[in-house]
Amino acid sequence: MYDAGKIIIGLIVFLGFATFPIWHDGGKAVSAPEPEITAYAKKIGHCVEPEKWMRANHMQLLDHWRDAAVREDKRVYVSSTGEEYDISLQNTCLRCHSNKEKFCDRCHQFAGVHELYCWDCHLESKEMKKWAATDESF
Ligand code: HEC
Ligand code: HEC
Ligand code: HEC
Repeated sequence: MYDAGKIIIGLIVFLGFATFPIWHDGGKAVSAPEPEITAYAKKIGHCVEPEKWMRANHMQLLDHWRDAAVREDKRVYVSSTGEEYDISLQNTCLRCHSNKEKFCDRCHQFAGVHELYCWDCHLESKEMKKWAATDESF
């Protein structure tokens, strides 16, 4: 004898996962545009923290960086792998991700995140434009 109830629940759960991308995005079953990684960042090969973690937590990390810099005057971030990075949105994040439009903006537009007000103050510097143009940094 099998338990029909369990099978039905299993089916509902399965259908939930199988159709997740459809209902999650209000019926727009399109795949996300890949954020573009610069050649420079590819050469380094990894982000300040593992990619999956960054995808989910970069906003909190930026908050944490801001608090560290502004409240504690702490300017160096030690990653979970022991690497040291300058705490700077412009000079660290955007050095590797100097193609902000094709990276940050593209993903945010897709995800429906409102335009970041960060750039009102954290302007694209001359250096950034140079990095973007030449794709060389550090
Ligand atoms: C009204 C202007 C303003 C806006 C808007 C703003 N910031 Fe800042 N931010 C500052 C200033 C000023 C500092 C302090 C700079 C310093 O001490 O080096 C700072 C520092 C930081 C730092 C640490 C130091 C650095 O240079 O990166 C981070 C990270 C940061 N902000 C992230 C953000 C993020 C993310 C947003 C948007 C969600 C944002 N900020 C919006 C003005 C602003
Ligand atoms: C040393 C170069 C480097 C720095 C600095 C850097 N990144 Fe990254 N980042 C990468 C690379 C390379 C990837 C993709 C591959 C990986 O992480 O394995 C990536 C991936 C990401 C992802 C995930 C993208 C996706 O497709 O899911 C996010 C979000 C991100 N970075 C945001 C940031 C933010 C915010 C900062 C600053 C706090 C930052 N990165 C600093 C190189 C860097
Ligand atoms: C892989 C996709 C992806 C990439 C690439 C990405 N973001 Fe995001 N970002 C998101 C999503 C999704 C949210 C909204 C998360 C939420 O609401 O919980 C978000 C939210 C944020 C927020 C908080 C916004 C707010 O007002 O609440 C900041 C700040 C931010 N991202 C900064 C950046 C910066 C800077 C970069 C480029 C260096 C970047 N992100 C790249 C997907 C991405």
